[in-house]
Amino acid sequence: MLKIVVCVSGGGTNLQAIIDGVHAGSIPNVEILRVISNNRNAYALERAKQAGIEGICVSPRDYPDREQFNEALLKAVDEVSPDLIVLAGFLVVLPPQLIKEYENKIINIHPSLIPSFCGKGYYGLKVHEAVLERGVKVTGATVHFVDEGTDTGPIIMQKAVQVLQRDTPETLQQRVMEEAEWVILPWSLALIAAGAVTVVDGRVQIAE
Ligand code: GRF
Repeated sequence: MLKIVVCVSGGGTNLQAIIDGVHAGSIPNVEILRVISNNRNAYALERAKQAGIEGICVSPRDYPDREQFNEALLKAVDEVSPDLIVLAGFLVVLPPQLIKEYENKIINIHPSLIPSFCGKGYYGLKVHEAVLERGVKVTGATVHFVDEGTDTGPIIMQKAVQVLQRDTPETLQQRVMEEAEWVILPWSLALIAAGAVTVVDGRVQIAE
């Protein structure tokens, strides 16, 4: 059984895709131990509650400085000793200690085809605004392991999505979620839980 912690900041539709997959059996051998949000009002916490999963809030606002927030976040993860941490729309710069402790055990979903439209400042709608601004015809989503850089870790899976002429950042965001994110995040989890994903020389290999 792959025991996971899911970190969220917002609506939690990716969390929902994981919850649904676990319940439906399309993500076998995965157990969600805890959901952690940096935002008390995140709807993702409500989704956790409805699914009977423990949801906790660790907000930077509740701590006098970043260091103490980092310690609290690390503690919230360590307490349940997960095999994997899933960042599902988690808008927090991770404590370096957490990244070190969980090397190749943290995955993130990014709403573009890395290495395009990623890195510092590319999050949420800003990604899709930049895609439309540049006029690319194909975008997508990427699931990757998290390292010390921003969106630089080994890539696990990607899926392309067509950009339409009439797209707004909002319609594009929605299509990227529906066609790519909610597909490749659960799928990546299933592969990891099956022991099929390894990192060799900084690149992911998937057993066939
Ligand atoms: C998704 O687009 C994800 O890729 C991004 O933030 C959004 C989160 O959506 N990093 P949700 O909270 O899972 O609905």
